[in-house]
Amino acid sequence: MVKKNACIFISGYGSNLKSLIQNSRNHNFPVNIKLVVSDNKNANGLLHAKKNSIPYLVINTKKKNHEITTLNNIKKYNISIICLAGYMKIISKKFIKSFGKKIINIHPSLLPKFKGLNTYKRVLTNNEKKTGCTVHFVNEKLDSGKIILQKSFFIKKNDDIYTLKNKTQKLEQRAFSEAIINIYRYN
Ligand code: GAR
Repeated sequence: MVKKNACIFISGYGSNLKSLIQNSRNHNFPVNIKLVVSDNKNANGLLHAKKNSIPYLVINTKKKNHEITTLNNIKKYNISIICLAGYMKIISKKFIKSFGKKIINIHPSLLPKFKGLNTYKRVLTNNEKKTGCTVHFVNEKLDSGKIILQKSFFIKKNDDIYTLKNKTQKLEQRAFSEAIINIYRYN
């Protein structure tokens, strides 16, 4: 199998990045992680890139040219897919168009429910029976592109924001890799 090159965007803790790095070591996994991009120089997730000798780029999203800088770096690594793994900034239409290849995102709710931020709190306030995570293609609208896969669980009476986050993130770590396998299953 000829693996594709992936770039992972992060902003924070990096639990999804960690599991993607682990899974990418499997020779049957369809991508290798060639670059990590973070908009936060203090992101814990950068430690996973450093530990695994994966090149990383810290971007300053306040700078006008940051998307061009990112795209130029991505070109150097011949990236076929960008995975947004807890990347908390919005990617512009122009960036999506200029990259022109696959961009996928993981979101901690069963989309189309609870797009945007503070998902766990809104799930609880809304008395949902189930919640979970969604991996989807990124388009120009927030959390709205075609869904690749979802994983869900039933909410228990004593669940709070912290237990929901914990349970959701456990599912996310499997969901992201499965979504990537699904994308490349037939090509
Ligand atoms: C994940 O739970 C992901 O779903 C969420 O950020 C977390 C990052 O965790 N993403 C969003 O809310 C995007 N709207 P991680 O840094 O440990 O992978």
